[in-house]
Amino acid sequence: MTNWNHKHIIDLSSFSFEDYKTVLELAHRFKTIPSSGSRKVPALQGKLIATLFFEPSTRTRSSFELAAKRLSADVQSFSPSTSSLKKGESPLDTVMTYIAMGANVLVIRHNCSGVPDQLAKSLDQKNKQVSILNGGDGLHSHPSQALLDLYTLIHFFNKKDPSIENLAGKKIAIVGDIIHSRVARSNLWSLTACGANVVLCGPPTLLPNNFSDFVKNPPPGQKKDPIKNRGEITISRSLKEALKDADAIYTLRLQKERMNENLLSNLETYHQNYGITHERLKLCKENVPVLHPGPVNRGIEMSSELLDDHSICLVDQQVSNGVTVRMALLYLLATTKNYNLK
Ligand code: CP
Repeated sequence: MTNWNHKHIIDLSSFSFEDYKTVLELAHRFKTIPSSGSRKVPALQGKLIATLFFEPSTRTRSSFELAAKRLSADVQSFSPSTSSLKKGESPLDTVMTYIAMGANVLVIRHNCSGVPDQLAKSLDQKNKQVSILNGGDGLHSHPSQALLDLYTLIHFFNKKDPSIENLAGKKIAIVGDIIHSRVARSNLWSLTACGANVVLCGPPTLLPNNFSDFVKNPPPGQKKDPIKNRGEITISRSLKEALKDADAIYTLRLQKERMNENLLSNLETYHQNYGITHERLKLCKENVPVLHPGPVNRGIEMSSELLDDHSICLVDQQVSNGVTVRMALLYLLATTKNYNLK
């Protein structure tokens, strides 16, 4: 943990191989704490974690709050609809209010891409010793989701020796509404960093061709990619081709709330072409797991029967692993002496 050098976690483009290992190994140490008795560790006693979710959430917000409580931190949550945002207070002034109460880490979700990053930059300019952890911003990034997905995958592939090295050369199919998905974008950084080859599959309206170049250029402001040899990203319009020889399938929710045009002719056709079902899984190798970040549109991107089949569908494991991965992230941010980090 001595090499951890992130004051904020906004996206995964700046994560090194060592960063992924640090988070996942620490998460595994938290996961293996005996579950009898209090389940709490005193690691963050006296720290304050604030969860500022300007956009709805069930899993991310609850699991960050549970993670903070398991680390014995104080937790302050916030509900936009009953807050002073309604009186015109800005997100920055809202954040400054929680800092004045002593927050050490602010977990922020916002429906506009870039808001957590802008807030982090404003706080750095003010020399505030507080960390921002992006809980999902617009179409941009959802780093904690991709990290819990990585944890789930490596433990699926090898329970005895879970390691990100085991992902090298694996074929992961990501299927569905890629264009609106911050989860897909964060998974592209993390999976390719571990040497996995990703096949993206969806209709052209939800998956433009330029996604194959997604990880080729670091985002503005980042000098270079810390990963030397990333896995490949390819695009397939055929689900049959995408599923052939895949080692895992990651299916995504159709984000109707982010679609401001008619991007699909109808949902039934979409399900026929891109929905994952037990029948469709016959196209794959045996025992291929299906992941989904949740919430799921039952019967659209995945059949209801498959969602309830926990021998194949890892959704519940993803949620459970989310708590320990988020414990690791909160611990790293709240305990690192990050005064000179950006
Ligand atoms: N996966 C995810 O971000 O779910 P929530 O919107 O429920 O947090």
